Amino acid sequence: MKILITGNMGYVGPAVNHQFRASRPDAVLLGFDMGYFGNCVTTPGALPECLLDVQYFGDMRSFPADILDGVDAVIHLAGISNDPMGNTYEQVTFDINHRSSVDVAKKAKARGVKAFVFASSCSMYGSADDRPKKEGDPLNPLTAYAKSKVYTERDLQPLAGDGFKVTCLRFSTACGMSDRLRLDLVLNDFVAGAFTSKRITILSDGTPWRPLINIKDMARAIDWAIDRDPSAGGPFLAVNVGSDDWNYQVKELAQAVALVVPGVEVSINPNAQPDKRSYRVNFELFKKLAPNHQPQVDLKATIQELWDGLVALRFKDADFRNSHYMRLKVLESLRDKGALDENLCWRNKR
Ligand SMILES: NC(=O)c1ccc[n+]([C@@H]2O[C@H](COP(=O)([O-])OP(=O)(O)OC[C@H]3O[C@@H](n4cnc5c(N)ncnc54)[C@H](O)[C@@H]3O)[C@@H](O)[C@H]2O)c1
Repeated sequence: MKILITGNMGYVGPAVNHQFRASRPDAVLLGFDMGYFGNCVTTPGALPECLLDVQYFGDMRSFPADILDGVDAVIHLAGISNDPMGNTYEQVTFDINHRSSVDVAKKAKARGVKAFVFASSCSMYGSADDRPKKEGDPLNPLTAYAKSKVYTERDLQPLAGDGFKVTCLRFSTACGMSDRLRLDLVLNDFVAGAFTSKRITILSDGTPWRPLINIKDMARAIDWAIDRDPSAGGPFLAVNVGSDDWNYQVKELAQAVALVVPGVEVSINPNAQPDKRSYRVNFELFKKLAPNHQPQVDLKATIQELWDGLVALRFKDADFRNSHYMRLKVLESLRDKGALDENLCWRNKR
């Protein structure tokens, strides 16, 4: 089997490399990435890309279709991956996340790829009441990032069929240690705060709901999606990926970290405007369709794994919210250095 992973050089990608090398040792694995965060490696030893057979560098906005020759499955992770980046680079976000995703799916179908797995997001439920959201419930994307995921799912749907299987995995908020750790994710931020200053600062009033998933479990779900039987779920499937047990309020996450790390002070801002991005999610469908690929790494184990990762890094930066552990800060720094232009294209490509 030949599998192409786009956006493999980010936070989630390395977990996918590890999962697929273990579950499919004979597969030919290809990576395709722009390399924005290539320097943000956070584990010692070989680069995570060394687990792959081939690494391509390029831009999804001008994706060379011939890379898809002989490819059986595409795992599409490449994208502008959070709200702060999406708000700062709105048009670029639509171009990369929506237009290019549909474009690569069309090229994949034309070249005979059989399975296309899209990294979608539960953030498309936006602001919702406390009732856990099912896949068929109305969507309420509040940001450019979330909208880009909605538009992509909408335009992938008609492509599915005739032997081309599309699976949109609506992931919970990711967490856990990675070969390219990022700290602009809620649990990772809390653990880093506890680690560096014994202090967790919740920027909201702590009430928003966030389902969580460890990146290892994301990779497990992707593994399932490639082989899933289209007679259950259909050639196009959009499914929430996470666990009903792991819908948390943000303040609960902080408290969970404080339980593992004694002496941590949690500060909640009682005057903060409630964060509008709040959603509880129902994961029944995923449980039914993928009983053997259910999430395994729970909150406590994830906190411990992050802690151990920070120990190994000898992590000290209490001001990490202004560091290259934040994806937007990396892009800003590459722009300041003149390496990237205003459209997030590498200047040396011109
Ligand atoms: N992290 C989460 O909480 C989460 C949750 C749900 C869904 N997702 C989705 O999963 C995917 C991976 O997330 P991540 O946390 O690893 O993000 P990340 O930002 O760490 O990695 C994204 C990767 O995509 C690459 N990329 C961006 N634009 C590109 C382009 N034009 N051409 C080629 N490569 C490009 C980047 O270089 C980077 O390596 C994203 O699509 C994200 O939206 C993430």
